[in-house]
Amino acid sequence: MTAVIHHTFGPHCTPSYIRRSLGYLIKPWTWQKGENGHELQATLSRWFEGECTLFGSGRDALLAILRACNFESGSEIIIQGFTCVALPNAIHAAGYTPIFADTNSDTLNLDLENLSTQITTRTKAIICQHTFGIVADVKALRAIADKHDLLLIEDCAHIIPDVTGPKVIGKYADAIMLSFGRDKAASGILGGAAIAKNTTLVDALANEAMRTKSITHMTIGKALLYPLLYGITKPLYGIGIGKLLMSIARKLGILIPVLTTKEKQGVQQPVLSKMPNACAGLVKWQLKFFHSINNHRRTLTTYYLEHAQKNNWQIPVGISEHFPLQKFPIYVPNADEIRNTLKKYNIYLDDGWTGATVCPRSVSQESAGYILGSCPHAERIDREILTLPTHPTMTQVQAQKLAKLLSSLVG
Ligand SMILES: Cc1ncc(COP(=O)(O)O)c(C=O)c1O
Repeated sequence: MTAVIHHTFGPHCTPSYIRRSLGYLIKPWTWQKGENGHELQATLSRWFEGECTLFGSGRDALLAILRACNFESGSEIIIQGFTCVALPNAIHAAGYTPIFADTNSDTLNLDLENLSTQITTRTKAIICQHTFGIVADVKALRAIADKHDLLLIEDCAHIIPDVTGPKVIGKYADAIMLSFGRDKAASGILGGAAIAKNTTLVDALANEAMRTKSITHMTIGKALLYPLLYGITKPLYGIGIGKLLMSIARKLGILIPVLTTKEKQGVQQPVLSKMPNACAGLVKWQLKFFHSINNHRRTLTTYYLEHAQKNNWQIPVGISEHFPLQKFPIYVPNADEIRNTLKKYNIYLDDGWTGATVCPRSVSQESAGYILGSCPHAERIDREILTLPTHPTMTQVQAQKLAKLLSSLVG
C-alpha cells in the first residue's frame, strides 16, 4: 500500500516531527510559556538582519506590520492577483484598501509593468509574495518602491532561505512576514513572524506585540495533536479508514480549520495572537537542520524541472533548480480534470491555490476587494495551474510515480 500523495496532509509530519510535537503535547505547562520564542526571535533576527517579533499566525504578523506602518485610513496597498485571502484581509483589517496588480505567468509573482500602472498618490506600500518559493525580482521592486516613496513588504510564507540562499530574500524589504502554518516553508503548526529593519517600525511592532492575546490551551492542544493524527491516518488513507478517521476528527472539532468562515468572507479578527512556546519550539528545532529541509525541496524541484523540460510541459520559466520550492507549478488547460483523475491513484493535488484569484476558491472575491477581469493573467493561472508537492514527507519515489502518471495525462 503506497502512502497518499497530498499537499496539505501533514506535509511536515515526519516521524521525528511527530515525536517532537508529542513531547510538547504531554507537557501542557510548556504550551504557552518558555524560552523558545526568545530563541526563535534571536535566530530569525540574525538570519534576516532585522528585529523579529513573533505572532500566532502569518496573517497576524502581516496585520501587525500594516498597523505599525500607521498609514492614513484608506491608503492603498498593492498586492498581486493570485494570492491568499490572508493578504487582502489583513489590509482591510488595518483600515487600508488592497489594490490588485496582475501576475506574471513566468514567475507567478507581481507583474512589474502592471504594478507600475496601479500606483497612485494614495499608494503607500507594495507587498511582494514569493509565490510557491519562486523568488520575486526584489531588486526591481525596491527600485519601484524608492521611486514612488513606498514601503516594500516581503511575504515569505512560501520560502525561507538557508545557508545556500536564495540570498536576495529579505535583503531589500522594509519589513518581512513569515508564516509557520502547517504547509509553509517551516512549520510550528501555528505561528508567524514580522521582521522590521528601521527603528520606527521595530518599536511600533513591539507595541503591537504587547497587545497580543494568548491562543487558548484547547487550540494549542489540537494543533499539537495534528502531527500524530495525520501520521496515523496517512498510511490508511488509500483504504478508506484514514478518510473515515479524518471525518470523525473533523466532526469532533479536533481539526483546526485553516480559514474561518468569516475569513473566507473577507473579515479578519482585529485581535492579534501570540505565538505559543510549543509552536516556537517546533520551528526553532526545524531551523537547526533547515538546510536539509530546503535541500529536499531543491532535489524534488530539480527532478520535476528536468522531467518537465524533457516532456515539454509548460511551466513558469522563472523557476530555477536553486529554489527550494514549496510546490512545483505546471500549466495545463485541463487542471481540474487531471486532479480528479489522480484521485483514483490516491493522489490529491488540490492545494487551495486554484479556481480563484484570491485563494482558496471558497473565498468571496468581492469581499476580498477583487474585481473579476481586472487581473486576466492571474485568472488564467488559477484556471490552468497544477502543483506538485516538494514537502518533507513527499518522497523521491512518490515524485517519480507522480511525474510518470502525469506524463500520460498532460498533453
Ligand atoms: C502567501 C501567503 N501569505 C500569508 C499567509 C498567511 O499565513 P497564516 O496561515 O500563517 O496566517 C498565507 C497562507 O495562509 C500565504 O499563502
